[in-house]
Amino acid sequence: MRFVILGPPGAGKGTQARTLSERLGIPQISTGDLLREHVQEGTSLGIEARTYMDRGEYVPDDLVVRMVEERLAEPDASKGFILDGFPRTVPQAIALERCLASSTHPLEAVVDFKISDRIAIRRIVGRYTCPACKRTYHAEWSPPATDMTCDADGHTLEKRSDEDELTVKRRLAIYRQQTAALEAFYAERDLLRAVDAEAPMVQVTERMLHAIDDVIRPERP
Ligand code: AP5
Repeated sequence: MRFVILGPPGAGKGTQARTLSERLGIPQISTGDLLREHVQEGTSLGIEARTYMDRGEYVPDDLVVRMVEERLAEPDASKGFILDGFPRTVPQAIALERCLASSTHPLEAVVDFKISDRIAIRRIVGRYTCPACKRTYHAEWSPPATDMTCDADGHTLEKRSDEDELTVKRRLAIYRQQTAALEAFYAERDLLRAVDAEAPMVQVTERMLHAIDDVIRPERP
């Protein structure tokens, strides 16, 4: 099973991709997480990517595409994957299509989370992330059991460097300029499944599973 999750910053891509990954036993591949790992390790990709990420801009296509191609070649991706935050531009989508064409396993669905900028900003400004397991929490809607501590592994939760309101507004504007075009790209290929993501997490999960039901349970009429 091969999925892409599209949606603006704060739409809940990471949250729902994690749930889907646990449910289906296929890896969640988040380009944001992969890039942040490079930044943390101080690789040459990380050093270059950081300047874009801190400004809320996209990292150049060639760098991101190479990173994703390498990740998709790892053994755990052979049985399927959930791409979270990739592609974000038409050239990235074309590169993905080429990459999958040679593996004979095409994409099966593109879930497109719809959310207003107002809710997206509220979600991101209140978000805290575990630096180890990448689980996210929200100060209002899903706080950890113990203040600033990850429920799963006890690490101290952190804020990302691109989560202040001004940077979030910039990220949203860039999404509308550069990524919204992918809706038409995937609609033309009959892969697009729009999901209203302005609901509590459990309800969004139900909507997402319903939208891809034919892919995850193909034997059903
Ligand atoms: P990335 O890390 O991918 O950030 P993003 O796409 O901007 O998305 P976010 O991670 O901010 O939000 P999300 O939709 O995953 O929401 P989440 O589930 O966390 O990318 C960061 C940067 O890396 C980019 O700006 C760019 O520079 C670079 N980059 C990455 N990919 C790239 C690419 N392909 N090309 C070029 N550059 C690239 O949820 C948010 C919060 O809301 C959490 O606190 C969560 O608990 C809460 N929440 C989630 N769902 C709900 C709900 N239903 N109700 C209430 N709260 C909810």
